[in-house]
Amino acid sequence: MTTDKHPENASEPASAPVAVLGLGLMGHALAAALLRAGHPTTVWNRTPGKADDLVAEGAVRAGTPAEAVAAAPLVMACVTDYDALHAFLDPVEEAALRGRTLVNLTTGTSAQARDTAAWAAGRGLTYLDGGIMAVPPDIGTAAATIAVSGPRADFDRHAPALRALGGDVLHLGADQGRTALYEMAVVGLMWSMLNGWLHGAALLGTAGVSAAEYTEIASKGIPAVAGWLPGYAKQIDAGAFPPDDATLDIHRVSMAHLVQESESLGVNAEFPALIKAFADRAAAAGHGGEGYPVMIEEFRRPAAKPQ
Ligand SMILES: NC(=O)c1ccc[n+]([C@@H]2O[C@H](COP(=O)([O-])OP(=O)(O)OC[C@H]3O[C@@H](n4cnc5c(N)ncnc54)[C@H](OP(=O)(O)O)[C@@H]3O)[C@@H](O)[C@H]2O)c1
Repeated sequence: MTTDKHPENASEPASAPVAVLGLGLMGHALAAALLRAGHPTTVWNRTPGKADDLVAEGAVRAGTPAEAVAAAPLVMACVTDYDALHAFLDPVEEAALRGRTLVNLTTGTSAQARDTAAWAAGRGLTYLDGGIMAVPPDIGTAAATIAVSGPRADFDRHAPALRALGGDVLHLGADQGRTALYEMAVVGLMWSMLNGWLHGAALLGTAGVSAAEYTEIASKGIPAVAGWLPGYAKQIDAGAFPPDDATLDIHRVSMAHLVQESESLGVNAEFPALIKAFADRAAAAGHGGEGYPVMIEEFRRPAAKPQ
């Protein structure tokens, strides 16, 4: 993984024109950040009214996707999913696409990203697949991380426009599927964290503790757990799981308490029961005396199909 701090190739100037297709919550934030950074920005959205305030701020409204693509060598797209992307890009004539660069910031799977890279190559369109690790209000600030994979030279060429979107702009390699794969991993982590927090809020809610009170304590735990990850990652990479802090078996005792507490308070116990099921399987395979990351083996294989 590299950042854009030392571009290896010549970049477009910071004033290079950009077209943004898709002005939902995220696309709108992207276009607004590009405008703020001084990029002449052409915008298109299926529902045209979503461009009104951007046009008032200096964006140019395109009447069709083809018109937007024609306006700039760099085209950014950010819509619901890849079906939506192809719904409006497929009909654009090959001659209009040829020679341009598409940075697709739509979330999808790595296979969809690679298929779209092949689709783009067939039209002479350079393809960079992007992932946004931020929410719309953070776009254009240091809090936003933008990850991109695809040809390095094209990433470098468009680094100034990408830098307008976030403080950290990462190149994750030439394989266009890599960023989507990272994005899937990161959203999975986000949902696990959010679900754990929601379950905790439901538990404490039974005792009249507000979500805000709970969150004061809960948010202290998140950086603490994040601090364990580099050491655990070393164990995974080395394939050895000494119980440096706690054994999986001791975690399983607490997991049983969490299930029991949830059930006795009438709170949904499915999420902690699922966590415990993974740990129980690892223990049944003989790993109860090892450290928590030994459970990676449970995540590496598909679930057994019910008989
Ligand atoms: N919001 C976030 O916090 C966030 C964070 C990271 C990544 N993302 C990713 O960014 C992408 C957009 O998310 P969002 O929050 O901006 O979603 P959104 O507000 O729901 O906007 C969806 C956009 O897709 C367009 N669209 C949907 N179907 C279409 C079709 N068939 N043809 C043309 N346009 C179509 C919509 O056009 P209309 O306006 O005409 O409906 C709209 O511009 C998603 O892939 C999402 O996973 C979002």
